[in-house]
Amino acid sequence: MKDFAGRVAVVTGAGSGIGLGLARMFAKEGMDVALCDVRGDALAEAVENVKGFGKRVIGLEFDVADGAQVEAAATRIEQELGRLDIVCNNAGIAIYPRPAAEFTDADWNWIIGVNLHGVINGVRSFLPRIQKHGQGGHIVNTASIGGFQVQKGRRTAAYATTKFGVVALSEGLFNDFEGTNIGISVLAPGAVNTNIYRASEYRPDKFGGPVARPNTALPVLNDGLHADAVGRRVLQAIRDDELYIFTHTSTRDWLARRHARIIHAFEATERWEASEAALNNGQERS
Ligand SMILES: NC(=O)c1ccc[n+]([C@@H]2O[C@H](COP(=O)([O-])OP(=O)(O)OC[C@H]3O[C@@H](n4cnc5c(N)ncnc54)[C@H](O)[C@@H]3O)[C@@H](O)[C@H]2O)c1
Repeated sequence: MKDFAGRVAVVTGAGSGIGLGLARMFAKEGMDVALCDVRGDALAEAVENVKGFGKRVIGLEFDVADGAQVEAAATRIEQELGRLDIVCNNAGIAIYPRPAAEFTDADWNWIIGVNLHGVINGVRSFLPRIQKHGQGGHIVNTASIGGFQVQKGRRTAAYATTKFGVVALSEGLFNDFEGTNIGISVLAPGAVNTNIYRASEYRPDKFGGPVARPNTALPVLNDGLHADAVGRRVLQAIRDDELYIFTHTSTRDWLARRHARIIHAFEATERWEASEAALNNGQERS
């Protein structure tokens, strides 16, 4: 997609952080924007903020983890703004770090529900509405650099599990839509200065209720990128039809190390294949 003006963007998790940055930059490009968030207070403020760019802006309060709510929101956006062109399935939460085996059922259900099923719900309800008008569009799913490798010592296995899922879903979609006028991207930010470390403060009761967490828990985010800069990076990627949207060149080495380790693992497979061949000498058949 090259031209944004006059078209419609949908952003989930737009009440704060990266989602708000995306919504602001889309509006600045002349798009109408539907901001979606589960927190009504943050959403109302964000809508006022984005209205400052002078385009049509609506706010929809719903939970991305609930497929029926996502479908109802998609219908309303189409009714109120007329069409859907760009959709950012961006809403997500972080959970406090623990050893991988110690996350509770409630932890898993909450983080998978929002970070993975939320994106699946968005794809199922929003994508057909982009396809419907035939003029093309773009889907951006927010994963994380944590969707490509798991940092030692950070204890983020649950978060990374969901983000690896978002990467896989996006690669699958990319295969489905390659060569069409619908672009697919997966956003993999490094540190961005947002409120994500406060997600547990609004954890729903069914997942254990709110937990106050010290603001110092993820100090690395305070030095992170401004969300508007991520918005500008995503605009570039949509224009250039990039599948992988990385935000920090410094994370390239993390992926290189992981990929080298994976490729190295095949050396053991080669030794095993050789020993199997010697052992069987072609005689073992099943
Ligand atoms: N901040 C970072 O450094 C960073 C890095 C990599 C990836 N990400 C990803 O970026 C995305 C946005 O996070 P952020 O950092 O801007 O955090 P944020 O907390 O500032 O914003 C996330 C927004 O999502 C909303 N939200 C949470 N659960 C929801 C639900 N069930 N339904 C609808 N909305 C919901 C929140 O209310 C919040 O307004 C997330 O998917 C996150 O995993 C963030």
